[in-house]
Amino acid sequence: MNTSTFSPEDMDFEGRYVDPHYSGQEDASVELSLRPKTLNDYIGQEKVKENLKIYIDAAKRRGEPMDHVLLYGPPGLGKTTLAGIIASEMGVNIRVTSGPAIEKQGDLVALLTNLDDGDVLFIDEIHRLSKQIEEILYPAMEDGAVDLIIGKGPSAQSIRLDLPRFTLVGATTRAGQIAAPLRDRFGVILRLELYTPDELAGIVKRSAGVLDIGIDEEGAFELASRSRGTPRIANRLLKRARDFAEVVGNGTITKETAELALARMEIDPLGLDNIDRLLLTAMIRNYNGGPVGLDTIAAAIGEEAITIEDVYEPYLMQIGFLSRTPRGRVVTPAGYKHLGIPYQGKIEQIKFED
Ligand code: ADE
Repeated sequence: MNTSTFSPEDMDFEGRYVDPHYSGQEDASVELSLRPKTLNDYIGQEKVKENLKIYIDAAKRRGEPMDHVLLYGPPGLGKTTLAGIIASEMGVNIRVTSGPAIEKQGDLVALLTNLDDGDVLFIDEIHRLSKQIEEILYPAMEDGAVDLIIGKGPSAQSIRLDLPRFTLVGATTRAGQIAAPLRDRFGVILRLELYTPDELAGIVKRSAGVLDIGIDEEGAFELASRSRGTPRIANRLLKRARDFAEVVGNGTITKETAELALARMEIDPLGLDNIDRLLLTAMIRNYNGGPVGLDTIAAAIGEEAITIEDVYEPYLMQIGFLSRTPRGRVVTPAGYKHLGIPYQGKIEQIKFED
């Protein structure tokens, strides 16, 4: 099982509070250094921040850990970052793991019993916990205890083990897949939204400051408006644009260098990449624009259905290029227009009775 504990002090040091093995991403340590450590440094998600501030403040005044928190929304919007902020604002350690990393009940029991009083336990992809593991979590979240079965058969005994007080922060891209009994045990449920271009421009400028990258206002806005509402993408584009600015420009990211970098990465003016375009074009060419089922689209373009649903669809739906209907996904007239394909409105076959 892969887990790590980090103290708020660790977080101050380059923000390295997540085990890079667990994170497993390209540029993991750079990405971590870009993560804000306080709510004040965190840009966007205003409603979430306002409420979290109150909950954190109230818990601190009572001298209690914060209630359990469920964060949900598309990937790359800052769920892990917020978990780290909750821990650092509460002045406690965070222990980071993920649903698929917890294989046995004993893994979770060991994690819970090793927490210090008030710690945050962050479980990413919490919808992927198995049923047996979830059953350990219920009494842990509700009563601060776990029930252990000792022995087998008729002589088996159940003993209750009290746990340190803790805050569970769960994160998921798919709230609908969380079993109701688990969802109901979170006192705070927060939905993260895609960011606006203005918020993303703020994030790009902040990250450029942290990484000591020169960028002007227009350059930041260009990157921001092509980041599909997602800070993780904005920060990635910033690093790639820096490469172009250093090699073919004067080192500062301007509108021109940003445009050049984005064109080379085949990211269009609305931030769509090759896969977005392939997805829409396949739906139009092969299925007349839909309605078509998710699995059919996935097979047609060779991507996993879950990736399409979590990664590609939210933005395509937000900009109004794709819609979901009970009979499947449909490309909208705006989607056709963006691709330069004439829209042939569906002609309903109406049968007249004599
Ligand atoms: N870096 C990544 N996400 C961020 C956010 N929401 N605010 C500030 N910096 C960020």
